[in-house]
Amino acid sequence: MKPITFTLNGAPQDNGLEDVALHSGFVSRCVVAARSQGAALLCAALLAGCRAAPLAEAPAGQAAVADSAMVVSASPRAARVGASMLRLGGNAVDAAVAVAFTLAVTYPTAGNLGGGGLMLARINGETMALDFREVAPQAATRDMYLDARGEPTDRSVTGALAVGVPGSVAGLYEAHRKYGALPWRAVIQPAMELAEYGFRADASFVEDLEDNLPRFSPSTKALYAPNGVPFDTGMKFRNADLAKTLRLIAERGAAGFYEGETADLIVAEMQRGGGIITLEDLKRYQPKWRKPVEFTYRGHRVLTMPPISSGGLTLALTAGMLEGFDLRAMGANSADAIHVIAEAEREAFLRRNTLLADPDFVTIPTERFLSPDTARVLRTRIGRTKHTLSALPPDPVRGRHTTHFSVVDGQGNAVALTTTLNTGFGSAVSVSGAGFLLNNEMDDFTVSTEVVNQMGLRQGEANAIVPGKRMLSSMTPTIVLDSSGAPLLVTGASGGARIITAVLQVMLNVIDFQMPLPEAMRAPRFHAQDFPDRIDLSMPGIAESTAVALEARGHTVRRKEGPLGFGWAQSILRSGGKWHGVSEPRGHGIAAGF
Ligand code: GLY
Repeated sequence: MKPITFTLNGAPQDNGLEDVALHSGFVSRCVVAARSQGAALLCAALLAGCRAAPLAEAPAGQAAVADSAMVVSASPRAARVGASMLRLGGNAVDAAVAVAFTLAVTYPTAGNLGGGGLMLARINGETMALDFREVAPQAATRDMYLDARGEPTDRSVTGALAVGVPGSVAGLYEAHRKYGALPWRAVIQPAMELAEYGFRADASFVEDLEDNLPRFSPSTKALYAPNGVPFDTGMKFRNADLAKTLRLIAERGAAGFYEGETADLIVAEMQRGGGIITLEDLKRYQPKWRKPVEFTYRGHRVLTMPPISSGGLTLALTAGMLEGFDLRAMGANSADAIHVIAEAEREAFLRRNTLLADPDFVTIPTERFLSPDTARVLRTRIGRTKHTLSALPPDPVRGRHTTHFSVVDGQGNAVALTTTLNTGFGSAVSVSGAGFLLNNEMDDFTVSTEVVNQMGLRQGEANAIVPGKRMLSSMTPTIVLDSSGAPLLVTGASGGARIITAVLQVMLNVIDFQMPLPEAMRAPRFHAQDFPDRIDLSMPGIAESTAVALEARGHTVRRKEGPLGFGWAQSILRSGGKWHGVSEPRGHGIAAGF
């Protein structure tokens, strides 16, 4: 099929298939798919979508404002695909599934088929959490990443042994099975076409590749640096193997990935690279519905991710401590506010790193995170100066990793979904003949209690490797409700441990400091955790005088310039009866709505 030229927002597009979800050819193929499933009403909706007005779009850091629906993602193409799904009659879950599959094509540093993720959804007034985190293969062992002297190796980070059994395809299939309105095939079609017909690499796609190129396996080099030369900006990137894999998933559902040709290719890749995932591991993978964490913060109901994420409980405990301080009187990004927020974060991370893990393997002391009494006691430890000390470990990896997107639909449903390969491009191993990358999520387990992992976290025995166990995550998809129970703020972030503090900051900026969403997202970030005993400050957004004032209280301060080193959030806020979507100001995504 030939590309078809079309206009978008009045501007001619050089290749219609690059923005495939707005493409009339795509719509007609969806109609065919819908007809074949006997969905006459859907056909009408698809055709209506085809005639609809352009999307309201805003680049990173600016607000797109829309009446009905909104999608915010780090990948502009994925956001447009999601918004188009909504316009074509899909709901927030259809859009989320379509965005997630598209990210696997257009944002390979974190979007994935070979990784995992966590979804929080508010549908018809009820909230559900879906865990499609990777699991340790059956042949995994507690000390599998230590060398003969008991020292950690990099085998949990790069190469086939670093790979946990992927959960994304099973999770997306389950989300759609339970809540999807569009045909399964229709939500995969845009990703399939982007993989098949290609899209032009933009600067961010190329930058991500260049940062990770030295780690790439031969199979990944063949995809992203053919003939040894990495893709350059403007070149068209096609991935026929990935299109074939997506087609198998479209035709067979999750079985198109966990069984048959794709499963065989994954296992063959494992055997070539010294990995341990078997056909049996793939076949037995199951996503899990979990009860969301719920807490109130200054009168707002906050819904967030339960374990296997550490994010929700750590957020709840931090917010519980902070509720006793008048942050608004202290002032946003003042030394007073940063001091108490950082102290609360350090207390909460101390418990995160020692107590949290897979709830199917360890007992989670949920009350120690959610109880107002615990928060009150811990709050009393926060004085005028910093109160503990520890040594400084090496920095975590610098690059981007994980990606979050937020969706709301015209019925007031919302999805916050975070998905990941762990670090950028995961294990850096692609499945030959299947066109997708595999995660290095095994590094999120406690490889050793003595050292920090790639995310800069020193974790405890509870999170040790056991076959079939899920590794602890920091992903924090979060929905704050208004007084009527409708979504007010839908948010989440990428950035390892910094996810939790970025989500907290966006929430505090909106609730305590009453900032409009663009300001809440643009505000300079800071991050603290139990170890290293240090506050990272985003400079020069945070004033030098504030950094000095924090040092005077005994804090070790690291001044960081540039966009990296903090969480990247993707958020939607209900304000003045409209949806306001803002993509991370330090990134390259968009908000798109109508
Ligand atoms: N792989 C990052 C996280 O789940 O926290």
